[in-house]
Amino acid sequence: MLAFFFFILYNLVGVDFMFKGEVALVTGASRGIGRSIVIELAKLGCNVVINYNHSKDSALNVLDEVNKLGVEGIVVKADISKENEVKEMFQIIKSKFNRLDIVVNNAGIAIDNYLENKSVDEFRKVIDTNLVGTFIVSKYASKYMHKGSIINIASNNAYECHELFSMDYDASKAGIISLTRNLASSLPNIRVNAIAPGWINTDPVKSMNPDIIKDEKDKIIMNRFGEPLEVASVVCFLASDKASYINGSVIRVDGGIK
Ligand SMILES: NC(=O)c1ccc[n+]([C@@H]2O[C@H](COP(=O)([O-])OP(=O)(O)OC[C@H]3O[C@@H](n4cnc5c(N)ncnc54)[C@H](OP(=O)(O)O)[C@@H]3O)[C@@H](O)[C@H]2O)c1
Repeated sequence: MLAFFFFILYNLVGVDFMFKGEVALVTGASRGIGRSIVIELAKLGCNVVINYNHSKDSALNVLDEVNKLGVEGIVVKADISKENEVKEMFQIIKSKFNRLDIVVNNAGIAIDNYLENKSVDEFRKVIDTNLVGTFIVSKYASKYMHKGSIINIASNNAYECHELFSMDYDASKAGIISLTRNLASSLPNIRVNAIAPGWINTDPVKSMNPDIIKDEKDKIIMNRFGEPLEVASVVCFLASDKASYINGSVIRVDGGIK
């Protein structure tokens, strides 16, 4: 019934299902920016793989929303920093869809601590999740994808917005930008790009100290934080044919830094 409704919508109203029949994997899609990316891709007709690590219930809620949009989705648990779990995730994707067109390396963590309190284990965990995880997922994706697009979510912390309490996070995001360029060169049939968001209103950001939020907004030309949708819409653009000659690039989505 839903599929029929979307068929009518597509043909009569001219809704642009630009990813109709395609399959996208979004890592860390149980909440925040990843959730928004999945919903926007699904609205454009894309079937979606919703990866999560801990938040199973939230991931299942995202799947409910996706199903209401008339596309297919699956939820797959995998810690992206663990090669065996990523390998299993790709086997599940292959047996369910047998194709993969878009990969969004979105999953990421931050552990805030200044140098004197930051342990080596914390530093390793952040690099393992954000940078090594992006590498592992991209490596396995490249075995399954014959063409398409990989989009890595970096951060404007990779550039001038360094924070002393997140030196591991900043290094991981700078590494993702370097990795993006090298992946683009290694995979000539796949466009590989990155997005560098500034502050985006997700749960960890909303729960920050109001004084810090005000100080950070003062550094932004538009004087506000972004919304997950404002990152998701750039992902949809980069994944689409409208970005057919954009490769190895980074797009900043940060409201402009003063
Ligand atoms: N929000 C911002 O201001 C901002 C700014 C710049 C860049 N970014 C980047 O944008 C991305 C999303 O940020 P967000 O604010 O939406 O974060 P979030 O709300 O904290 O969500 C993080 C997501 O990553 C998943 N995740 C974490 N570790 C994982 C692992 N080892 N394996 C698989 N999934 C894992 C989480 O899944 P579970 O809950 O299931 O564990 C969750 O779905 C991150 O890469 C972040 O660095 C965010």
